[in-house]
Amino acid sequence: MKIVASLLDLRAARLSLDGTTGFVPTMGYLHDGHLSLVARAKAENQHVVVSIFVNPTQFGANEDLSKYPRDLERDLDLLRPLGVDVVWTPTAEMMYPSGYQTWVEVEALSQPLEGAMRPAHFRGVATVVAKLFNAVQPTKAYFGQKDAQQAAVIRRMVADLNFPLEVVVCPIARAAGGLALSSRNKYLDESQRKGATVLFRSLSAARDLYESGERNAETLRLKMKEVLAGEALAQTQYVSCADYDSLQELDFVQGKALLSMAVYFGNTRLIDNAILGG
Ligand code: PAJ
Repeated sequence: MKIVASLLDLRAARLSLDGTTGFVPTMGYLHDGHLSLVARAKAENQHVVVSIFVNPTQFGANEDLSKYPRDLERDLDLLRPLGVDVVWTPTAEMMYPSGYQTWVEVEALSQPLEGAMRPAHFRGVATVVAKLFNAVQPTKAYFGQKDAQQAAVIRRMVADLNFPLEVVVCPIARAAGGLALSSRNKYLDESQRKGATVLFRSLSAARDLYESGERNAETLRLKMKEVLAGEALAQTQYVSCADYDSLQELDFVQGKALLSMAVYFGNTRLIDNAILGG
């Protein structure tokens, strides 16, 4: 496993990889969710490149970039047994040289849901992912359904900018009890961690309603809110039942839809989602 930092070294390492190359962009502090993406990339490609970069431009002013968890040595130890060819750890200085002013904006898809709560977040995500794609030139790139809107934004960007690669979206890896794996889970104390299973329970309750025939989107949103309200430690920021492609809120569910939510436990903000239909 080659570990490279500079763009020059990344390019040299990439040129030495002959054949299909799967790419998994991450911000590090890896867990089994990230590793499931790496395993899928390994299964579907001859080579695998992983990037680890805590991208400053996707953090808002009130979101503490400096507190984002980091442990490179641990991450490398987790990646070694998976047969990763190259790990790229660029620096903020090389990704955003002084005077930087070029941005990728995926307009409408970046506005609702997470975009409404985190202005400029998806501009930062789309920009860094475009830059990572340009450098790595992967055959396929792997993203998690955990960040459903991010996956939608990246898919749109790849189509709009004609990136010659395939975006693969992988299922959400969950802990026992249903809590979606996330680097932020480490901030939860024991009672919050237990309470945080309420996200999955509320999605499951709404999905049960849908499966029994309910198609009124507001009824599904109210069900999720009701279950979330039953957990004293949970502070719901939003719940949504939106069209899967446009991410616009629905009145009635027809075709594929996305249930999603953001919920605070203390200062820790958790997101989760589920797909209906399709
Ligand atoms: P990060 O939060 O490190 O996540 C890297 C990838 O892992 C993303 O595609 C994310 O959706 C996926 N992932 C996270 N938790 C998961 C889970 N429980 N199950 C399955 N996949 C999961 O997302 C980012 O980094 C950044 O925004 C990035 C795309 C790297 C751009 O900076």
